[in-house]
Amino acid sequence: MSQNKDYKVSRSDAPLGQTPSGKQKAQGPSRQSVWKMFDRIAHRYDLLNHLLSLNRDKFWRKKVASYLPNGDKLAILDLATGTGDQLIALADSGRVERGLGLDLSEKMLDFGRTKIDRLKLGDRLTLNIGDAESIPCKDESFDAVTISFGIRNVNDVLNALSEMRRVLKPGGRALILEFSLPSSRVMRSLHLFYLRHLLPHLGRMISGDDQAYRYLNQTIETFPYGVSFCSLMTQVGFVEASFIPLTFGVVSIYIGEA
Ligand SMILES: C[S@@+](CC[C@H](N)C(=O)[O-])C[C@H]1O[C@@H](n2cnc3c(N)ncnc32)[C@H](O)[C@@H]1O
Repeated sequence: MSQNKDYKVSRSDAPLGQTPSGKQKAQGPSRQSVWKMFDRIAHRYDLLNHLLSLNRDKFWRKKVASYLPNGDKLAILDLATGTGDQLIALADSGRVERGLGLDLSEKMLDFGRTKIDRLKLGDRLTLNIGDAESIPCKDESFDAVTISFGIRNVNDVLNALSEMRRVLKPGGRALILEFSLPSSRVMRSLHLFYLRHLLPHLGRMISGDDQAYRYLNQTIETFPYGVSFCSLMTQVGFVEASFIPLTFGVVSIYIGEA
């Protein structure tokens, strides 16, 4: 992982209280209405993901899978799994023996279950209702815990990160895929224009939901990213956290070593 050397934070580097609060969140729907919102747009969710990211989401998810820890019989947990695309990409690595996906939206999970059945992955992958902030699993039960485009949606980010840390086996790894902002000023301006002026309209037209894609740009712009986000990870006990910006930095993968 030489490319992420510059972006590493160790537990001892993280000054408590000097990093953005884990509770920092854009003004938006409450947690209950967040998953209800996903229930409403579930039927269009995959299509919107592919269209609005110009199909880059498939590459990002594959990239997350490339950072799974060593081993070929991994037990993995995917939080806020939605329609299961990240969990399926992890299983495609051929190194996952058992994968559990948890989400609060039953409708998103229903679409995911249909995909898992179609791909004949039902013997390895299971989708259940479950909260990322109160994971219904024993301590130290997984080799890897992932959350893609989900950590932004939880009420208390530190709480969710600390839950991820709790269920990881010693030496396990957390992988978090989340939106971020490009560091180049030009790319950042272009991206902000897209987020503020194009994405809400496209999202509304395709999903038929007025709120969902307005909320998305607010949460992306206010959510901690890069080194700030790594500091949140080390605050909850990850020994080391690093990040890899992808596609000009519009998303980043965060890697936390348990
Ligand atoms: C943007 S979607 C991401 C879905 C999927 N991980 C993906 O990569 O496409 C966010 C998901 O987070 C779920 N969610 C929100 N808060 C949650 C929580 N506290 N626990 C579990 N899932 C949650 C929503 O229901 C929704 O399915």
